[in-house]
Amino acid sequence: MKFLPDDVYLGDARELSKHLGRESVALSVWSPPYHVGKAYERGMSFRDWQELLGRVIAEHAVLLRPGAFLAVNIADILCLKDSSMPRLMGENVARRRRAEITPELVAQAWSKHPGLSRKGIARVLGCSEQTVDRRMKGNNIRGGKYATQTRVKLVGGLIEELALEAGLYLYDRRIWVKDAAWENSRWHSVSYRAVDEFEYVFVLWKPGPTRIDKARLSRDEWIAWGSRAVWNIPSVRANDDHEAKFPLELPRRLIRLFTDPGDLVIDCFAGSGTSGVAAVGLGRRFVGVDNVQKYVTLAKRNLRNALHERSQVNLELFGDLKRVA
Ligand SMILES: C[S@@+](CC[C@H](N)C(=O)[O-])C[C@H]1O[C@@H](n2cnc3c(N)ncnc32)[C@H](O)[C@@H]1O
Repeated sequence: MKFLPDDVYLGDARELSKHLGRESVALSVWSPPYHVGKAYERGMSFRDWQELLGRVIAEHAVLLRPGAFLAVNIADILCLKDSSMPRLMGENVARRRRAEITPELVAQAWSKHPGLSRKGIARVLGCSEQTVDRRMKGNNIRGGKYATQTRVKLVGGLIEELALEAGLYLYDRRIWVKDAAWENSRWHSVSYRAVDEFEYVFVLWKPGPTRIDKARLSRDEWIAWGSRAVWNIPSVRANDDHEAKFPLELPRRLIRLFTDPGDLVIDCFAGSGTSGVAAVGLGRRFVGVDNVQKYVTLAKRNLRNALHERSQVNLELFGDLKRVA
């Protein structure tokens, strides 16, 4: 089956070239599983994960137009279990204190201070927002890691190697600085590791003619972010419908930098469809793929809403033009 634009499909990112034309894609923007133990990574070993990334990057060598880019948003792996690594510490004094924050205690604090936000409750209890969220919902706000952090594994070298194997080149990398993810975890974190508040965007290039068009941005935008390596973009506030969304502004910037209206943008780890919402909002065509049905349904809905919004804006513009004429 061929994938038609402006839709999201149930499928596997490793099999894109069965469904999309050779050299049809102007930009691919995605954020893969990070190998941090999320539900959609269940049963995947580190080797499986590397193979997944390798195969998906290789698919892009076929699909991208010559001179086009693949932008991969990813963070360093912080949950690589390594039994050969000795334990850093014997006793964690801070964790003893955190263990006292029970769900009952959080519920009591909330009934005593019903007007307070999660942040306010965290302050009352002397714990982090994450702890409050975990006790109430059994999960992490804005994603987070589910397995014990053991060894840090940097991903940049791996992405670069996989790209070269596929015939793509690492052209650029940007650092996405999120708002300090959980403001007060800077005090409440229980390790010497820094609060994880940045990710990367690795930009891979398929050799061929590339049009560099600064006019896609205004002068101020070019100076503020187009030519800058560090992008400050607040992370998504609520991961209630998908646990690992990136903010709309991230794909928006990449799409504006690297494509023109009418170009085909894809995201083969579409999740909630953020890249699609950005793409169609900017007048690009979009194909999304995810291998989990509930995310495909969610992304389709988000994409449909964005397309509807775009048609409303067009109708208003058309009305204005008719009035002027
Ligand atoms: C980090 S999330 C992407 C979130 C997305 N950027 C957003 O803003 O909503 C990764 C997604 O990849 C999907 N996924 C994992 N393995 C896949 C595969 N082999 N093929 C297609 N999708 C896959 C997961 O279901 C998950 O929704």
